[in-house]
Amino acid sequence: MGCSIAIASGKGGTGKSVISSNLSVVLAKAGKNVLILDADIKMANLSLLLDLEYVDTTLNEVLSGEANLEDAIYEKYGVKILPTGISLSKARKAKLDKLEEVFKEITQNTDYLIIDTPPGLEVDAISALAGAENALLVVNPEISCIVDVFKIKKVSDLLNTNVLGLVVNRVRYDVSEFSAKEIEAILESKTIGIIPEDQEVKKSVAFGVPFYIRNPDSIASKAIYRLGMNILGKKESIIESKNPYERLLRILR
Ligand SMILES: Nc1ncnc2c1ncn2[C@@H]1O[C@H](COP(=O)(O)OP(=O)(O)O)[C@@H](O)[C@H]1O
Ligand SMILES: [Mg+2]
Repeated sequence: MGCSIAIASGKGGTGKSVISSNLSVVLAKAGKNVLILDADIKMANLSLLLDLEYVDTTLNEVLSGEANLEDAIYEKYGVKILPTGISLSKARKAKLDKLEEVFKEITQNTDYLIIDTPPGLEVDAISALAGAENALLVVNPEISCIVDVFKIKKVSDLLNTNVLGLVVNRVRYDVSEFSAKEIEAILESKTIGIIPEDQEVKKSVAFGVPFYIRNPDSIASKAIYRLGMNILGKKESIIESKNPYERLLRILR
């Protein structure tokens, strides 16, 4: 029996889907049996990131009882994928109370179930968070995002979903940004990944191929690799060696 990790953040556009897909590839390349599920029923876009938008049978059909789970699972880059269709009418038919059941069934045969969660705190987001054993909170280093993640953390605590840690994404090492240490202190949670702003991420989205596959040497790829290794319990520095200040800190520690 494996473990489930919901990738959550409250706000949309923080990087949940790109982190979910690339982290899944890292874990799969490390030999793990990984399944990624798109729980963003209303605004599904994971299939676009993985070039799977053409498939007919998705989580929508599983949740509405029209298809079996195994018929909605696809495979790419060594990762099993359970996408959600982009059709809104089908999304309306999906029964969210079945989601937890689906999570349980999947974790029986996988090492890691990665759940790409919807933004907000509506019933869809709560169902995804409630059904997961763990949550990884994606935060951008800016005030509005930190406030939203604070709420998600409180909700995770209420739901008994274990917060694995924070992933600070879209870091530009800009003076206006909150540092990972400050965010850790505010959210009272450990930072287990720092992912810089990287044009390669945008390009990979446009091509529908994970950046870890398209350009494994990019800064974002090195950062997502470190995050994956931390999740696997292999001690990796989360600090980007490209940043001179943080590099110096690492040397002096
Ligand atoms: N580290 C990053 N560097 C550059 N662009 C990023 C990064 N993370 C996310 N993005 C951009 O933000 C967009 C939204 O990311 P996405 O993962 O779809 O957000 P969410 O799932 O949280 O709504 C991506 O399409 C990409 O253009
Ligand atoms: Mg998303």
